[in-house]
Amino acid sequence: MTQPVPDVLAPARLGPVTLRNRTIKSATYEGLSKDNLVTDRLIDFHVRHARGGVGMTTVAYCAVAPDGRTDRKQILWTDAALPGLRDLTEAVHAEGAAVSAQIGHAGPVANPKANEAPALAPGRHFHATTQSFTKAATRADLRRVVDGHAHAAGMAIEAGFDAVEVHLGHNYLASSFLSPKLNHRDDEYGGSLENRARLSRDIARAVRDRVGDRIAIIAKMNMDDGVPGGFWLDEAGQVAQWLEADGTVDALEMTAGSSLLNPMYLFKGDAPLREFAALFPQPMKTGVKVFGRWKLRSYPYRDLYLLEHARQIRAAVKLPMILLGGVTDKAGMDTAMAEGFQFVAMARALLREPDLINRIQAEPATKSLCIHCNKCMTEIYAGTRCVLANQAS
Ligand SMILES: Cc1cc2nc3c(=O)[nH]c(=O)nc-3n(C[C@H](O)[C@H](O)[C@H](O)COP(=O)(O)O)c2cc1C
Repeated sequence: MTQPVPDVLAPARLGPVTLRNRTIKSATYEGLSKDNLVTDRLIDFHVRHARGGVGMTTVAYCAVAPDGRTDRKQILWTDAALPGLRDLTEAVHAEGAAVSAQIGHAGPVANPKANEAPALAPGRHFHATTQSFTKAATRADLRRVVDGHAHAAGMAIEAGFDAVEVHLGHNYLASSFLSPKLNHRDDEYGGSLENRARLSRDIARAVRDRVGDRIAIIAKMNMDDGVPGGFWLDEAGQVAQWLEADGTVDALEMTAGSSLLNPMYLFKGDAPLREFAALFPQPMKTGVKVFGRWKLRSYPYRDLYLLEHARQIRAAVKLPMILLGGVTDKAGMDTAMAEGFQFVAMARALLREPDLINRIQAEPATKSLCIHCNKCMTEIYAGTRCVLANQAS
């Protein structure tokens, strides 16, 4: 029997929580925390999105350990952070939206200089991006990271979050272990897919054990690293099936690429090379200008650009799924629903217009004003914003 196609703008259950509609503001690192704590500007950012009509907004990347930060000021799950996090969740709830916290360890994408600690990775290798060697994670490191996720999820409940989103993508630590390109270990964490998936599954299990069904658990996972020899779709389908069998996640959100191996594969569209170069001191600035075109290879943008791949994961599992990547209008949302996805997640279109969902509610033919210039990406350490938008609105 075929299921009726859900209305993307009507309320829906995500694990134990009910969202007012099926749209989710996906994590866009805000760069608005200070000293690892919430600020009023971070609260305002999420209130703006909540007021704009999304079912749930996502507080981007809150590291589960100091050495897992990509930015020194990033939120850490400490007692000191709790009051600010509570203010944030209360402010979002007051606008009728739910709120999720993205938790993870950046692994080889972490910033070793800012963290004053080496970046953890499956093995020791030199990373041009950070100009340093990674540290091969020991079993004790991995235990600490798994426990850190459980601790973060427990604190997310205390802080009033409705969901946690476990970061298993973008070649952050868990994703770097999944990747055959990055993981050359010969212990129980390397080699076979079962071994490479061990860390991701352990993390999800530890989070489930800690939260039970009090809040929803989402896993954001790569389908494809975007490089030859990387993690790939058929493996992602198997890992999705394992996560489903483990009963550790309530929904899957599939992504692709990474800032480490192939940044623009994640986003598609223009590579804002000049703006990126401006973020670096010399001689890196010139290096980025000269070699950046190779590293920041651009890919043509089109709406729903991850659908063809995500559809294959959709066919492999019964778990609820969130379609991500180039969702910008009601037509795209309806396609996602018709393809069997239960939710849609949106990043750039909502940075451009935080009230886009309200506008689509009022006029379903509304088109997004985002042009995928990707210049928002170059703003993430200064306070993420669309360079085209009037922030006062
Ligand atoms: C400025 C910016 C910051 C982002 N920060 C994060 C992040 O912290 N964590 C994450 O998982 N994805 C991050 N992303 C990726 C988005 O969540 C999303 O996967 C991607 O932009 C594709 O969705 P879209 O086509 O709707 O923009 C970021 C994207 C942008 C544009």
